[in-house]
Amino acid sequence: MRIKKEPADYRQILDSLTGAVFLFDDRMRLRYVNDAGEQLLGGSSRHFLNLHVTEVLNCPDIDIAGDFTRCLESGVSYAQRDLIIDLNDASITVNFFVTPLFEGNECTSLLVEIHQLDLQIRISREAQLLSQQHASRLLLRGLAHEVKNPLGGIRGAAQLLDQELNGKYDEYTRIIIEESDRLQELLDRIVGPNKPPQKSLSNIHKILERVRQLVQAEVPKGVTINRDYDPSIPEMICDPDQLIQAILNIVRNAAQAIGNQGEILLRTRVDRHMTIGSCRYKLTAKIDVVDSGPGIPKELIGQIFYPLVTGRAEGTGLGLSIAQSLVNQHGGLIECTSSPGNTVFSIFLPLGNGNE
Ligand SMILES: Nc1ncnc2c1ncn2[C@@H]1O[C@H](COP(=O)(O)OP(=O)(O)OP(=O)(O)O)[C@@H](O)[C@H]1O
Ligand SMILES: [Mg+2]
Repeated sequence: MRIKKEPADYRQILDSLTGAVFLFDDRMRLRYVNDAGEQLLGGSSRHFLNLHVTEVLNCPDIDIAGDFTRCLESGVSYAQRDLIIDLNDASITVNFFVTPLFEGNECTSLLVEIHQLDLQIRISREAQLLSQQHASRLLLRGLAHEVKNPLGGIRGAAQLLDQELNGKYDEYTRIIIEESDRLQELLDRIVGPNKPPQKSLSNIHKILERVRQLVQAEVPKGVTINRDYDPSIPEMICDPDQLIQAILNIVRNAAQAIGNQGEILLRTRVDRHMTIGSCRYKLTAKIDVVDSGPGIPKELIGQIFYPLVTGRAEGTGLGLSIAQSLVNQHGGLIECTSSPGNTVFSIFLPLGNGNE
């Protein structure tokens, strides 16, 4: 790539970095923040420009203003590893690098680079988790295929037997046929949709509205489904039926967890520079399904995306595994965080091609 020395080009380069970059002036007021920095702070630079460093970066373990003063006076760069930054709704661990910038002999500003450690851990874990989940799905699907054929034979033989015996033992043959049908249904769910995605340009909010209508009709009166949609999300190429199925599985789980009284929130946002597996996307749609239920039991949380893992007596443990598989087929990913009263399933769907 040919780089002209225009400020706009530098800005584009800075905005493409995964690390957050901040520029503070000699009064420690924020002068510039790149896209990754905005994402880290969870808001547009408009809200943060001109604020003092202590209002931008909340680091409970250090005296950041004191460190900045010393750096401006000495002109010597410094680094801080494993530093905790408190954000609005979470704490993150980062590596933090401060470089003084000079005009002539005078140190006039400080360049701060922040690399989020939790994010690096998440990226590698994701790739590993996705391949493990994929492997267990393949194994189970293979097994289901093997069981399906003899099951068809057993059911057919029971029907023939019933005819031969003129219905004499039909209380037994009926059990064989009904139980075979139940197993067949389960195996069909395990094998999953056998047609490739039928992709077309679709609106994610139409998909969510369909899911909302379906679940609204099923839940008790005390359960409300609220919406917080970002209308700026562009249309995306996807299979709407598959995404309805995936999101429906997640929203149904939320409704089941809540029971008679509570709230489900469907929220959409655009995320920039998101890494999914090993691909980095400029823009991704983020769909959050938030519920006020009791949360996912601690012993289950690492395993819920694996097939046949269930915490419900009547559950088959296939809903999330199918949802993850359908979202993966769209190049996306589902993640989850949970605490009592606040369980969030986030579905990330790329808008456009990867490896920007
Ligand atoms: N929003 C949630 N709140 C609390 N627990 C949840 C939530 N979503 C999922 N879980 C837990 O994860 C388990 C797995 O969910 P999954 O949808 O894969 O299977 P299932 O709901 O048990 O069965 P199925 O969807 O196949 O009928 C659930 O049984 C439940 O214990
Ligand atoms: Mg389910």
